[in-house]
Amino acid sequence: MSAAAQTPALQAIGLDASRLLGQFSPIILSNRAPVEPTSDGRLVPGAGGLVKALTSLANAMKAPWVSAARTDIERELAVSGRPLNSDIDPDQAFPIFFAPTGADAYQLHYTVVSNPMLWFAHHYLWNIAIEPVVDQAIYRAWFDGYRVVNAAIAERALSVARKLPRRPLFLTQDYQLYLAPELIRSALPDAAMQHFIHVPWPEPRYMKVLPAAMREAIFKGLLANDIIGLQTSLDVHNFLRCCVELMGLRVAEAEGVVLYGGRLVWVRAYPVSIDVDAMRQLSELPRVQELEAEVASWRPEKLIVRVDRTDPSKNLIRGFLAVERLLEDHPEYLGRVTLWAFLQPSRQDVVAYRQYLDLVRSTVDGINSRFRTGTWEPTRLDLGEDIHRALAAYRSYDVLLVNPILDGMNLVAKEGPIVNQRSGVLVLSESAGAHEELGTHGLSINPFDVEITAQAIHRALEMSPSERAQRSQAINQIVTSNDVARWIRHQLEDIRSLTPPLRRRSNGLDARPNGSRKGRPTGYVRAAGRWG
Ligand code: F6P
Repeated sequence: MSAAAQTPALQAIGLDASRLLGQFSPIILSNRAPVEPTSDGRLVPGAGGLVKALTSLANAMKAPWVSAARTDIERELAVSGRPLNSDIDPDQAFPIFFAPTGADAYQLHYTVVSNPMLWFAHHYLWNIAIEPVVDQAIYRAWFDGYRVVNAAIAERALSVARKLPRRPLFLTQDYQLYLAPELIRSALPDAAMQHFIHVPWPEPRYMKVLPAAMREAIFKGLLANDIIGLQTSLDVHNFLRCCVELMGLRVAEAEGVVLYGGRLVWVRAYPVSIDVDAMRQLSELPRVQELEAEVASWRPEKLIVRVDRTDPSKNLIRGFLAVERLLEDHPEYLGRVTLWAFLQPSRQDVVAYRQYLDLVRSTVDGINSRFRTGTWEPTRLDLGEDIHRALAAYRSYDVLLVNPILDGMNLVAKEGPIVNQRSGVLVLSESAGAHEELGTHGLSINPFDVEITAQAIHRALEMSPSERAQRSQAINQIVTSNDVARWIRHQLEDIRSLTPPLRRRSNGLDARPNGSRKGRPTGYVRAAGRWG
């Protein structure tokens, strides 16, 4: 990832951050750390779009990052209190602090509440005739897992924040940390706080599947922030409706604001994006070229690619079924096209995810045994975590299949077109957040409709070179101008203009963090005294 060090986007983020955040010391909070130490002493980038997007800001600002300790190595670091210095870019490394979490509490937090409970709620993934069954086990996981991990992260973030030179700006990420902001607000009432939610926000009736006590705690936690960021305007709309219908709050929908506890909480859409130059630089690394040559050695005339985590929301099975339909309807493509799914195994400690991967494997086996001839297979399944291989896949596709049931954004839809070398066509689910920006230039599909998906793939395969070029240029243009720097700039501009100023205190001391009234004041106390 070091190729990303000095891209124009990173420079722009650095400039924007010093221009807009001069009064703040930002601190990022997420469940998973941006890089994770392995037992053989390496650091690997954490999974998912969140990490990619936020690393740019952390790099530019050298902002400390606080995450839950998920492994024994991380637990040791958490107990020592020492940060891990990310070597994503040795010149601009930022410290990563781990919050101490017991293995049992973390397991309840991650495998029972965050995934599947909250993730499934956000993506409408339950078969609600029979699930979820909210029972003692779920309540226990909520109290002994989710709340405990949120409290540990809040506490570690507070201790890091108290040593920062300026007013802390807590940038909390995603659904695993909904309760942390309320704990932070009660300890540091004058902190600036923004929470970005990377997943889709469901409509109020679906949120009602969650027990009232849990969803109320979620809203109270989130509404402790000054600003809540979501991916799309539909997510903002749904969130505001939930505030009205589930919490009885007053909102001004046109302004995107909720009145809560005498404060204004702003709710805004910021579509997450990528560092375009970093992506291009990475895609030109010799290792990627080697892997691209390897792909060329086995690929048939046409290659359909998908790159995803093995998550039920990604709709992997219907993707394979669509290729089966394509081959039934268009036997002229037998031997000429393959769907290559390069999948990153995800959340294999959650039963539903293990079962889903089994189903993916058996679907692939079924289709391949029906159609394979000689060395040709209609679908190819590779499991692994390898950015270079993913980039080789992106460069090589004729069709990029992005058909999630529902997705906050889906960065594959932005990354693929940026590095692809064949004017490949994007087949895009109308329910991916990326559809709001890219839908017109991709081929839109209803992700549940296998017939339509098969037809869209066929249309993409048959499309004239000029139409392919025109569509891929249009997507490139949109992604290039709405890149990660813009995503961050819009958030920083709002933080600067919408976060209430530090309140003037009669004795000048009220802004002091808990427990710091005696002795030498910490950085934040000094700043609050000077600026308050
Ligand atoms: O982008 C959504 C997200 O859930 C992030 O919060 C998370 O870091 C990423 O996907 C990967 O998920 P996990 O950390 O559960 O593997």
